[in-house]
Amino acid sequence: MGSPAIAILGTGSYTPSRILTNEELSQQVETSDEWIFSRTGIRERHIAAKDETTSHMAAAAARIAIADAGLTAADIDLIIVATVTPDMPMPSTACFVQAHLGVLSHAACFDLNAACSGFIYALDTAWAMLGSSRYRHALVIGAERMSTVVDWKDRTTCVLFGDGAGAVVLGPARGTAQIIGTKLYAEGAHAHLLCIPEKKCAPGEIAADAPQPPRTITMKGREIFKNAVREMEQAAREILDHHQIDAAAINCVIPHQANLRIIAAIGQHLNLPPERFFVNLERYGNTSAASIPLALDEARSTGRIKPGDTTLLIAFGAGLTYGSALVRW
Ligand code: ACO
Repeated sequence: MGSPAIAILGTGSYTPSRILTNEELSQQVETSDEWIFSRTGIRERHIAAKDETTSHMAAAAARIAIADAGLTAADIDLIIVATVTPDMPMPSTACFVQAHLGVLSHAACFDLNAACSGFIYALDTAWAMLGSSRYRHALVIGAERMSTVVDWKDRTTCVLFGDGAGAVVLGPARGTAQIIGTKLYAEGAHAHLLCIPEKKCAPGEIAADAPQPPRTITMKGREIFKNAVREMEQAAREILDHHQIDAAAINCVIPHQANLRIIAAIGQHLNLPPERFFVNLERYGNTSAASIPLALDEARSTGRIKPGDTTLLIAFGAGLTYGSALVRW
């Protein structure tokens, strides 16, 4: 007997109420709405309040996804949070999410770091775990508080990122909806192109004696751009070939929302028109692991994804990691 069919049963998302526009940013660093929008497609981003942690945003998105699936928190027996901005190094943000959900469900909880590809990595992991039939309903969440790892004086990075969370509930397929496939990749040789360098300690030195520079994002933007286009195209082509699905049969592509020019280039390479891509980065910026589930939830709630549709998800991020997923609704 093969593995049981697993589907996305519900989606949810959450973004903080505080909106930071390009105009406001241009009063903090030397930039302009014109530069940011023409280079990236971003107009504004949401910024978490002081007490609005990654787990709070994740739990808010999760509650909506659980209700959308017609379940309660007690039905969830696995929680995976994809994030590079956990509440703390330990325990995992997923444990905090379980606590916020308020039900002592004893669901297994862990975090996963694959940067902006984190949601696809977590989806693949949860799909495999549910496919083993040892778990029944999983919460897969991408949640980020990027505002805490951005150097707000560095105009080359601070204009790009935003905060938010998106969640899906996976479970036994009802009807014909199901996850068709996933593909994960990484190129560690390019790890240095995009990172949050660790506090450095010399051998034998204890952390308290070492200088403590702030941990913020460093990025080689142009190289990331080129790799992103190449890798997302590869991730899309290989999953379509593997499942013998023509690109033209995809109703909606949900790419990682980093830069509109990256998305446009992928569309050209795959010979897909811009309207086939769902894009909301104008209002959120790059929310890292949250970007795809945030877009997925918006695409569903606005009717852009309908029952019976086939959706292609494509991600790339620090690592460099990249990956894709095919989902039937
Ligand atoms: N405002 C005004 N000018 C700026 C800004 C800014 N915010 N940022 C950079 N500039 C200047 C630069 O200093 C440079 O000036 P110079 O020519 O005098 O040296 C000029 O603009 C051009 O800079 P470039 O870096 O060449 O600009 P580019 O067109 O490549 O756009 C960008 C930069 C938007 C960062 C682009 O390279 C990009 O999007 N790269 C991909 C980044 C990305 O997606 N990162 C997220 C990865 S996902 C993850 O895992 C987190």
